[in-house]
Amino acid sequence: MDVSRFSNRYSVRCLTPDDIADIYELCSQNPLYYHHCPPFVTEQSIADDMQALPPRKTLSDKYYVGYYDGEKLVAVMDFILGYPNPETAFIGFFMTDVSVQGRGVGSEIIDNLCSYLKTCGLTGVRLGWVKGNPQAKHFWHKNGFTETGVTCSPGPYTVVVAHRDLEKS
Ligand SMILES: CC(C)(COP(=O)(O)OP(=O)(O)OC[C@H]1O[C@@H](n2cnc3c(N)ncnc32)[C@H](O)[C@@H]1OP(=O)(O)O)[C@@H](O)C(=O)NCCC(=O)NCCS
Repeated sequence: MDVSRFSNRYSVRCLTPDDIADIYELCSQNPLYYHHCPPFVTEQSIADDMQALPPRKTLSDKYYVGYYDGEKLVAVMDFILGYPNPETAFIGFFMTDVSVQGRGVGSEIIDNLCSYLKTCGLTGVRLGWVKGNPQAKHFWHKNGFTETGVTCSPGPYTVVVAHRDLEKS
């Protein structure tokens, strides 16, 4: 994966532990997300997320990326290649900075990503949102994701698994 091609507008690069303070600043401004998906973010939970993997995947499949407008971090995404199958990408986490929300930034990022993944030969993108988080549900519906019918409960909440078919978009 060439993450620099994830976006037509923003500079995209893999984030490192040196970026944790900036990631925390972005995430901590989104309390509604953590209300639905507790516990609230900490610098340690970000460090843990940078290493977290779904079953059978390795860090070579993982791209924990930041989208930059100049020096400003505007979005964070946890991207896994080839999960749950080789033709599918998985978004484990996606969040935009409050200062840019509601202006189409998130949708453009997802649209650009899907276009790039299609050129790489991938056929679908999968993700989950926390049941009862209307912000997330509306956003992913608006961006062409539909419920697979699968749900899971990795914590004190239920995750609704959704999919976007890249061959249709
Ligand atoms: C969801 C999120 C990524 C959207 O990013 P964004 O840059 O605002 O995206 P866009 O401007 O392209 O899209 C906005 C859409 O998101 C949804 N949305 C955003 N804020 C919302 C809110 N407070 N209530 C309901 N829907 C909301 C709506 O569908 C909205 O579409 P509309 O403007 O047509 O009503 C961003 O709000 C965010 O980071 N939220 C916190 C983290 C989160 O919930 N992540 C997704 C789950 S992993």
